[in-house]
Amino acid sequence: MKIQILGTGYALPDRILSNADLEKMVETSDDWIVSRTGIRERRISEEDIATSDLAYKAASIALNNAGITAEDLDLIIVATITPDMPMPATACFLQDLLGATGAAAFDLSAACTGFIYAITTAEHFLLGNDYRYALVVGAEILSRVTDYTDRSTCILFGDGAGAMVLGKGEGENGILATYLGSNGAGTSLLYIPAGGTRHPASQETVAKRMHCMRMQGHEIFKFAVKTIPECASQVLRRASLSIDDVDHIVFHQANLRIMKAAAAKMKVPWERVLVNIEKCGNISAASIPVVVAEAVEQGKIQSGDLVLMVGFGAGLTMGAALVRW
Ligand code: ACO
Repeated sequence: MKIQILGTGYALPDRILSNADLEKMVETSDDWIVSRTGIRERRISEEDIATSDLAYKAASIALNNAGITAEDLDLIIVATITPDMPMPATACFLQDLLGATGAAAFDLSAACTGFIYAITTAEHFLLGNDYRYALVVGAEILSRVTDYTDRSTCILFGDGAGAMVLGKGEGENGILATYLGSNGAGTSLLYIPAGGTRHPASQETVAKRMHCMRMQGHEIFKFAVKTIPECASQVLRRASLSIDDVDHIVFHQANLRIMKAAAAKMKVPWERVLVNIEKCGNISAASIPVVVAEAVEQGKIQSGDLVLMVGFGAGLTMGAALVRW
């Protein structure tokens, strides 16, 4: 028995923040942003939208594509670093919006690797007990934790949600292998200083923009290019497959140059890499499931294809999942 992906869905806000818009906000240029990151625009949520609202849209589409209803769900996991509130879990808000009354629901925090952590967790829940269906969502409104006076970060991030419905199936299709890792020595490279117990919210934390992301971009860049091939090797080895067997690779969409460098290191033809960073930017935990759901919708990912997903992010966390679609 394997755990299969039964349906996918995604939701992106309509509002676009272009590089031209950012040129008016900070000292930057379209040319710098495109050449350094590959990003041309990102989607930004309206003020009255919360993370669970985006998650609900993506999840509803995934449930529909899976051919099941919310009442069928046994488990909901939302991977996010931008929850609706610190408490309760965004997964509980989502559960209520969906009417998934029979499901357990919790959030998972692993930053941009969150979706890989979440499907790995869901796979183990499904294999380990009598759960039939799990909904896994990566959802973020990063625009609410982005400092739009800091040109080194505000050019990168956007909002969105991607979802997958997982269930049990016989045969060769499904999750073949997963790998998760973490290096807590790198916590200071990418973080949101305030809002937790270390620096509770105060006038000072707000004034100093301590509720926004801070990043040492160059260090993250080096970490990503080194880590991606290592994560890919782990899952390929566990599944006794080679990189040449892979039909589609989905990297966390953080920077086009990171993806190109990693693909070159792995000797993967660029045509096999699925990319949407030019129009979405970096949407953290939502990045991988949005790319996958778009590719499924466009018919690029077909049944039987071997799909390799690789994530990395704050923590520093890292992980990969290999799926026979
Ligand atoms: N426009 C113009 N100039 C800029 C901008 C900007 N938006 N941002 C920085 N610069 C300047 C810097 O000030 C610096 O100027 P200086 O040489 O006069 O000091 C120069 O450009 C080079 O800066 P670097 O930071 O060295 O530029 P780099 O090529 O490393 O690109 C970037 C920066 C795009 C942030 C890159 O490091 C990157 O993408 N890193 C990875 C980030 C990432 O993946 N983060 C997400 C991880 S996932 C998660 O968990 C959320």
